[in-house]
Amino acid sequence: MDQNIVIAAYLLVAGLFVYGLKMMAHYRTARRGNFVSAIGMAIAIVFTLLARDDSGVWAVSGKDGWTFVIIAAVIGSGVGLFLAVTVRMTGMPQMVAMFNGFGGLASALVVFSECFKHWGARGDSDPVHMSVAIGISTLIGWVTFWGSLVAFARLQEFLLSGRPTLFKFQKIVNFAALGAVILLIVLWGMFPAAKLLIIPIAVIASALGVMFTIPIGGADMPVIISLLNSYSGLAACATGFVLKNPGLIIAGSLVGSSGIVLTRIMCIGMNRSLVNVLFGGVGAIVVAPGGGAGGDKRVTSWTAEDAAMCLEDSSLVFIVPGYGMAVAQAQHAVKELSDLLEERGVQVKFGIHEVAGRMPGHMNVLLAEAEVPYEKLCDRSETNSELDRADAVIVLGANDVVNPAARHDKGSPIYGMPILDVDKARTVMVMKRTLNPGFAGIDNELFYQDNTAMVFGDGKKTISDIIAVLRQ
Ligand code: TAP
Repeated sequence: MDQNIVIAAYLLVAGLFVYGLKMMAHYRTARRGNFVSAIGMAIAIVFTLLARDDSGVWAVSGKDGWTFVIIAAVIGSGVGLFLAVTVRMTGMPQMVAMFNGFGGLASALVVFSECFKHWGARGDSDPVHMSVAIGISTLIGWVTFWGSLVAFARLQEFLLSGRPTLFKFQKIVNFAALGAVILLIVLWGMFPAAKLLIIPIAVIASALGVMFTIPIGGADMPVIISLLNSYSGLAACATGFVLKNPGLIIAGSLVGSSGIVLTRIMCIGMNRSLVNVLFGGVGAIVVAPGGGAGGDKRVTSWTAEDAAMCLEDSSLVFIVPGYGMAVAQAQHAVKELSDLLEERGVQVKFGIHEVAGRMPGHMNVLLAEAEVPYEKLCDRSETNSELDRADAVIVLGANDVVNPAARHDKGSPIYGMPILDVDKARTVMVMKRTLNPGFAGIDNELFYQDNTAMVFGDGKKTISDIIAVLRQ
């Protein structure tokens, strides 16, 4: 296919990506935005497969070439479809981590093949450009892949707990490794024929991916997931320069830059600088004074009947959802409760913390699925400005994002993270199964405050029980 037609198709694709991203910024249009971007990606794949490069070489040629592409497409689509249908909402963050990782891996493998198979055969005029671009793509691609595997393991609590893994001289070792890999890329730029340099670059980058991510504790996972997302885009962008493919350069830059914007939003949500997240080693488990989670401290325990009575007597109720709502899949029950209370003249609002749950926008997605009107969702500052006049707050499976220790306990790993100030409401009902800590692994002093009542049990069951009492 003529190069100009392919470039025109890539321009159309870039437009679809940008338009899709814009639509994703609003919950009403987010699904369509996803669809528009997917169409853009489908067009990009078709035109990439049918393209010829400057020297007239087809991207895919011969029976063998097409057989390979078809087999890979069938396997890839099958796995994607299977995961899309089977992965539960609670497993989405891990899946996003793996998506990022495979994006980085794909870039790293493509440039590896380009390095040994096509580079030279295509008579590239600028070997310095090629060696540096391949070096950068290899570095970012492998860092992304291994970093994402560590993030996956931490989120899944598979082999790794939520605690940061620290070792002696960690920062020095990391910076030395980063310096060494940059030096190798510069050397390669000076001696482009030394293609074997790709091997030590890949090995050191893989080690860096692990070493940079393991000191990052569970509580900082939102930032690292967004950052790895951005890296996967940057790796694709560098690969675009290697392949001289404008479509990939545009798509990679869009992912890279939107990932950075998201990283910034997550850092603001936790009141941490990126440097502090990357090198702070925060998120260690702190044992509650009194021993263990809660230790010998006393809490007030309520039944569903007590909670229903309190809600009926309220004028303004805030519902603050957290990761536990996703685990319990309680969003539909919550919507029903909210409707029921509103029918009885109680004003209900939802307080959303930007890092609640396990992925950016997690609570918004769940509540949108349950058709909670978007107008009822208040962001952190809006919620905090109204909490002191709320009669009751339901904290449903949220923990770290409502822990008052973040405001005053300088020794706490979450000190400085902005929280939802639910303790300022007249009554706080915390609905969760136990007194166990949340993702950051720290005890929550909210549970023991005088205006707090614990309603123990699975989130969905507790809300359904309250609905049943209210309907009686
Ligand atoms: P968490 O602090 O993780 O607490 C969730 C709570 O839900 C747990 O304490 C758990 O207590 C409860 N829970 C679990 N299953 C439940 C069920 N079936 N019914 C009722 N409750 C249940 O949640 P959060 O307040 O949303 O905070 C998010 C944390 O995750 C932050 O530390 C954040 O930094 C981190 N994180 C966020 C992201 C993003 S991007 N949002 C990504 C990775 C990590 P029980 O076991 O006692 O029930």
